[in-house]
Amino acid sequence: MCVEQARRWIQDASLITVLTGAGISAESGIPTFRGQAGLWKQFRPEDLATPEAFARNPKLVWEWYDWRRGLIDQTKPNNGHYALVQLEHRTPQFTLITQNVDGLHERAGSQTVLEVHGSIWKLRCTECCRSWPDRTVPLCTPPHCVCGALARPGVVWFGENLPEDVWIAAHKATLACDVFLVIGTSAVVYPAAGLAHLAKSSGAKVIEINTEATAISESVDCTLLGPSGQILPELIR
Ligand code: OAD
Repeated sequence: MCVEQARRWIQDASLITVLTGAGISAESGIPTFRGQAGLWKQFRPEDLATPEAFARNPKLVWEWYDWRRGLIDQTKPNNGHYALVQLEHRTPQFTLITQNVDGLHERAGSQTVLEVHGSIWKLRCTECCRSWPDRTVPLCTPPHCVCGALARPGVVWFGENLPEDVWIAAHKATLACDVFLVIGTSAVVYPAAGLAHLAKSSGAKVIEINTEATAISESVDCTLLGPSGQILPELIR
């Protein structure tokens, strides 16, 4: 059975790399982007998650991010996040790459997290190069930098490059791993989605965990269908 095989691959691996998406936080109560109740069903990314949208209406964009910060602030990591903390402890070389900006992996206790889409808990100046953590909820919007310029959310928007150092580290860990776990992502947003293909073509076993089949299901070694908060603890037991 796929799950037995996946368990063996994980047990035998000395280098495991994991890519997570919004689905891993769904059981914590954070909405995903593309599901039935997904954020992109209710809101248009071009109004809220692009540099142009921010330039047009920073207050509106900040209000939306502040609302999301409030939602996330009410949540806690779930069993899926905690299972990855355990897996990190027992794997000689472990890298966790996340597309999520919610910070739940760190809150669960994951040591090193590569946040390829940034963090909703960081702010960045639009003029100078300052960037700083801020957990205030609600924020006084729109917030400003100490230099007086407008601050923006420390996340990656559509049309922007991923943070270079983080992306290089993610790429390296993907190329080198024995097992690549892809959890709770629709795998349609590039370049992050391309990591699963890169892992596969570099010889890693690619295991997907998702409640439904995705854009990459046909090309992975094994898809485990179900909620990650249930499957992950079973898989690493
Ligand atoms: P999506 O909303 O596109 O996909 C979420 C995935 O999680 C879907 O494939 C669901 O089937 C799956 N899912 C839902 N609940 C689950 C559960 N309990 N266990 C396991 N899987 C579950 O979110 P992402 O793929 O993360 O980027 O989206 C990628 C990027 O698109 C985001 O980082 C964000 C968004 O636009 C930016 O904002 C730049």
